[in-house]
Amino acid sequence: PFRAVFKRPPELVPYSTGYDPDGQPFAKYSLSQRLGQAQIAPGLMTTLAGYNGIFPGPSIRVEQGTRSELRISNRMPAKGILYPDTPNTVTHLHGSASLPQYDGYANDRTAPGNVKNYQYPNWQAARTLWYHDHNHMLTAQGVYSGLAATYSITNQHEREQLPQGEFDVPILVSDVMLNADGSLGYNDNGHSGLWGDIIMVNGVPWPTMKVKPRIYRFRFLVGSITRSYRFALSTGDPFYVVGTDAGMTPNVQAVSSWRQGTAERYEVLVDFRKYKPGQSVELRNLSNKNNIDFANTGKVMKFEVVADSPSLLPGSRSITAIPKTLDPGEHPTKASGGLDTMSLTPDMAVAKRTLRVQRKSGEWTINGETWDDVEKSNFTRVFANPQRNQVEQWTIVNESGGWFHPVHIHLIDGKIIGRNTNGGKPFAWENGPKDVFYAGENESVTVLMQFDTGKHEGGRYMVHCHNLVHEDHDMMVQFAVGDLKN
Ligand code: C2O
Ligand code: CU
Repeated sequence: PFRAVFKRPPELVPYSTGYDPDGQPFAKYSLSQRLGQAQIAPGLMTTLAGYNGIFPGPSIRVEQGTRSELRISNRMPAKGILYPDTPNTVTHLHGSASLPQYDGYANDRTAPGNVKNYQYPNWQAARTLWYHDHNHMLTAQGVYSGLAATYSITNQHEREQLPQGEFDVPILVSDVMLNADGSLGYNDNGHSGLWGDIIMVNGVPWPTMKVKPRIYRFRFLVGSITRSYRFALSTGDPFYVVGTDAGMTPNVQAVSSWRQGTAERYEVLVDFRKYKPGQSVELRNLSNKNNIDFANTGKVMKFEVVADSPSLLPGSRSITAIPKTLDPGEHPTKASGGLDTMSLTPDMAVAKRTLRVQRKSGEWTINGETWDDVEKSNFTRVFANPQRNQVEQWTIVNESGGWFHPVHIHLIDGKIIGRNTNGGKPFAWENGPKDVFYAGENESVTVLMQFDTGKHEGGRYMVHCHNLVHEDHDMMVQFAVGDLKN
């Protein structure tokens, strides 16, 4: 650990920008899914499948209100690297209120040799998103082989209040296991989960990053197939939580550690100003229940403090004090009845639902149902059908005993209002808008959400466990917003 050098994913430049006939700006990007090589273990090459052949794939950064189009071509060979099936792909932009036809619906596959243009509205407030594969029954293999990358929506509010450029750092954490020849190992422990013994940050095993004595913003994204983390600093110093899955937190919370499951995003500030050049701080992973730990899975990366110097990255800016509160700006869809997620209250909910997570004869289910039931209904079966802008309250109950489930609800931003653990309250780090809700062993979590589609009519959206092995087998169901026409 700590011998490799920290790296940032490259940023993707649009091949075309301009204005649509309605005056809205757009940016068009082109990507391909293809095989590539990476050196993860010293002296060995690992074949992966990534966006543009790299893992993580290129990072995309868009201004709020600029539409984006991702022209994604599947250039995979006829056989996948981890499974014998045809490597069809499905791309989901996680955190985006996309139209249903661009949301990466698990059966909306693109075969090798074909192209799909995905269109994203980006009307939502500044946040950290990610795009990844979402092919039904093969999502774990797709993401594990490298089909994952970060994406962010930025705006003036975020730029004025939080560190930028050099001091705004993506931390995509994942775990992997390698065979003796360097090829990707894969073992899902009978569809329970995959736990690798190598921890990577942005595709590099246990890297060391040089940091200046400044305040840094780290955008944590867990891209593991299963593993959850509890991040802490070796010095015991605090992290200041400034962002959750769906954007900035109104009140900044200091925590000494936090729990993060797959697909969750936490943005935290770390203040390195008190350190002298030459000092170092390790980022650790304290253990959570129901993971499989190995010798070095308690270590993540190392920060090595160096002397301050002017930044070479254009647009870099740190901040000079840890903020106590943050202003995410006016809610973007206020004019059409959109509500600020953190202002939702239980009395607004027109329906209350319970989502029970159980394992039944080897399959993972939600209220006893799986995606197989959805397929058998010719995709008509939905467990909820809210109207546009309706508010609902959902409680996710983990009755599966000895497991944890980070449950992701597509389309919406939610506010956690209670847990059966932690004295009934959300955890300190959950004090912001979320789209993944971690239900630990015997835990339940209650969430308020508004079905805000922006400008579109609605449609069908998935709900699933983001332990991708559970999602694939077959813990995924769907809801529909608005009237269903087809
Ligand atoms: Cu991050 Cu349905 O996915
Ligand atoms: Cu699960």
